[in-house]
Formats: sequence, C-alpha cells, structure tokens
Amino acid sequence: MYIDLIAPKTSNTSVPKSKDAKAVYIETYGCQMNVADSEIVASIMSSAGFFMTENIDESNVILLNTCSVRDNAEKKIFNRLKQLRGLKRRKNKKLVVGILGCMAERLKGNLIGERDLVSIVVGPDEYRNIPALVNEAFAGEQGIAVKLSKVETYEDIVPLRTQGISAWLSIMRGCNNFCAFCVVPYTRGRERSRTLNSVVDEVKHLYDSGIKEVTLLGQNVNSYFDKEYKHDFPKLLAECAKAVPNMRIRYTTSHPHDMSDGLIEAHATYKNICDYIHLPVQSGSSDVLKKMRRDYDREKYLRRIEAIRKQVPDVALSTDIISGFCYETEEDHRETLSLMAEVRYDGAYMFKYSERDNTLAVKYEDTVSEEDKTRRLQEIIDQQHKISAEINFTEHGRVHEVLVEGVSKKNENEWQGRTDTNKVAIFTHTDDIKVGDLINVKVTGSTSATLFTDVIR
Ligand code: SAH
Ligand code: SF4
Ligand code: F3S
Repeated sequence: MYIDLIAPKTSNTSVPKSKDAKAVYIETYGCQMNVADSEIVASIMSSAGFFMTENIDESNVILLNTCSVRDNAEKKIFNRLKQLRGLKRRKNKKLVVGILGCMAERLKGNLIGERDLVSIVVGPDEYRNIPALVNEAFAGEQGIAVKLSKVETYEDIVPLRTQGISAWLSIMRGCNNFCAFCVVPYTRGRERSRTLNSVVDEVKHLYDSGIKEVTLLGQNVNSYFDKEYKHDFPKLLAECAKAVPNMRIRYTTSHPHDMSDGLIEAHATYKNICDYIHLPVQSGSSDVLKKMRRDYDREKYLRRIEAIRKQVPDVALSTDIISGFCYETEEDHRETLSLMAEVRYDGAYMFKYSERDNTLAVKYEDTVSEEDKTRRLQEIIDQQHKISAEINFTEHGRVHEVLVEGVSKKNENEWQGRTDTNKVAIFTHTDDIKVGDLINVKVTGSTSATLFTDVIR
C-alpha cells in the first residue's frame, strides 16, 4: 500500500507559471498531530492535481492548519489573517484562504468571511474534501466541512513528507478523556486507532526510504487499540521495534493512567525504543488533578515514575504543567513545585491556564488572579530550568550515541544531533559526518537546554 512514501521536498516541486496554476501553501500551527495532518493534506492536494509550494508569494491557495488549545494559539491565527488580507489586496485578488484544524472545528462557520478573507473552513476529519472545496472557492463559493468522524484515520493516505531523517506517524486520532481544561476532545472527536498492520507497514517503508527515526503520534497514544485483532500499544510498539531494529522509535503523548507495566517493559526490552518518555502530569496536587479529571493522583503518578526508573534507569523524562488552574491554592502550587523537585524532569512544557469554551472547567470559577498565575508559572519555569541545568551538568563526561540532524539551529558554525534521550547535542562538523549518521559524542559542557560535545572517533 505504501509504495512511494517519501515524496520530493515540496520546495523542489516546480510550480507552473500559467494563470491556471493551483499552487498550495500550507502553514502549520499547534501540535505534531497537526504537522502530520498537514502532510496528509499535502498528499490529498497533490493527488487532486494541485502543486505544493514553500513560497507563499507564488501560491494562490493558503491553508492555515490551526490550534485551539490556548487562547493565545487562536490569537496568533487572527493576527496572521490580518497580514494575509494585506497580501491578498496587494498581490493576488484571487487568493483562496482556508482554515483547517482545531480552530476550524471549534469556530466553524463563524470563521467564514473572517477579515474578508477566509472562504473555506475544514475540520480535522474532513480533509478529503479540501480539493473540491478549494475548486468551489475559485468559483466564488464559500464552503464549510466540519463533521467529526468515528472512523476516519486517513490510514490509506500516504503522507507527503518533506524529506528528512525523522518522520511523524499518526497511529490514532481523537481523545475520549475529557480532561476538564482541554478543548481537544471537542475539536478532534472520539478516539479511533489505525490497524497495527498499517502502522508496521508504514514504519518499514519509512525505514526502506532512509528515515532513521519515527515518532508514533496520538493525543493519548498509550490507549491505542486495534479493535479487530485486540492489539494494544505495547504490542504495537514491540512489533514496530522488531520490524525495524535499526530505526529509532519514539512516541507522544502518553497519559499517566495508561502508562502500563507492559509499556515500560517494551522500553526495557527493545533497544531501539528510545529512553525518553513524555508523561504530562499537569499538576502536583491531587486536589487539582481531581478537578482536572485526570484519573490519577500525585501518589499514583509518582509510583509510575518509580516503576519506569526501576526498569529503564537511564530514561529521560519530560512533562506538561498547567499553572493557575481554577481553585489552585498556594499550597497546591507548592505541591507542583515539590513534585517537580521529586521527579526531576529533564524538561517540561509549562503553560498558564487558559479557559476554553465548552470544557467542564468553564463551569468552575477561575479563582486565580492573573498576577498569581503569571508569578506561579514563572516560579515553575525557573525551577525547571535550574533542574534541567543540574541534570545536564551531571552528563559531563558521558558518552551518547547521537543521530546527526545537520547545522545547529542556534549557531550555523556548529552541527547538532539528538541523543536517544531526546537532548540536543552540539558538535563540530567534519566532512566525514553526514545528516542521518549515528555518531558517538562525549559531553564536555551544557546549558539547561543543550549538551556541548566532542565527537569520538
Ligand atoms: N493529549 C496530551 C496533551 C494535549 S494538549 C495529554 O493529555 O497529555 C498539550 C498540553 O497543553 C497539555 O498537556 C496541557 O498541559 C496543555 N493544555 C491543554 N489545555 C490547556 C488549557 N486550557 N490551558 C493551558 N494549557 C492547556
Ligand atoms: Fe486533552 Fe486530556 Fe485528551 Fe490530553 S488526554 S488531549 S489533555 S482531554
Ligand atoms: Fe492544538 Fe488541536 Fe493539537 S488544539 S494541540 S492542534 S490537537
């Protein structure tokens, strides 16, 4: 089924200059699921006779794949639309602009005509309809497709990936957890999984096409379930690990209540399943976790961490934290700080609570002042930076195998790669080192975010 999995990089795809050209530019916001979805959209558009371009100025269709998880994610899109309106007025009166993704699902028809610009709105389960909607938009029509599906997984569509050494692969869609703060179940619909065989096949083809690392994606990957053959996530992970023993396998995101012993065992058993686990805790206070409807308390979470560390001693851990959730007291906040100090995460994504329409928490009182939210978040960030820096300092002298990614994002004179534990390692490039190589490096210095290393020959 997956014959030509890796398509040429979109920028290499030439765009015919005729006035009939249908050149599509996609801009992606939000989580990795959206990145993977944009590759599916690119594939659907290409099959329908459109051309993908990375140059916005030569496009006549602009699709924004959007995120609703926090208010500022949506604000970013409204600002972007303001800029795009200028582009349409100045350069291309016939430009078609579409909103895809979670904002499309959340705001639906309200987005049509936004800034005199948006003419199509397509939710995450309706991407097969984009070509038809764009063609109608060229004819002056407006279109909305926002039905959520219980079955759509796009399993049969080969994503149009931009060539690289790492690939994203969606194994499931939607979420059934309804955490009190979260909009995702409303924008992505009910949970559904792809078949195990389709995932393993795609992983094998990725490997055959030169991809060195794959990240299995889902809002809640560890509740993955292949209904037909009753395969769960540890089984899927094990099958992928066996199918491509020389490829690195990662996954995100796991929910603590589905972090089973079987999953931990898979980490311990297969060398190519990376020693890195992202396990969002959200809060260190059991009271807050209960109000968040997270289905675990502080103790249960800490017991999972203990079980992971016992079986996978070198594991790196990261988390998500929401600061200032409804009714969070100073005491609750200190419990978050103390949990962070106890776990000692290698890294964390930290957010200020943002109320989202339709979620359960709308019914709660947002009792924490803006000032307290900001201060608490800053305390959390400061503590995490300190812990990350301390952990990285203990790495000095340690040897890591690093997958070479290319020129460093921060310093063009150096190169970077990633350790199995998902840390960025900086090293000096020599001509014998190519993108996609696995090399050994020794850590000589560090910051809270980066390891500085020497290549070992
Ligand atoms: N499915 C993943 C998370 C998806 S959203 C999981 O359950 O872990 C990514 C992160 O955004 C969440 O972990 C949470 O920390 C944060 N988040 C979600 N809703 C939020 C909100 N309303 N305000 C602030 N942060 C939020
Ligand atoms: Fe949102 Fe919770 Fe689902 Fe994660 S598990 S996507 S936080 S509802
Ligand atoms: Fe955002 Fe939707 Fe992902 S809300 S975080 S793009 S699932």
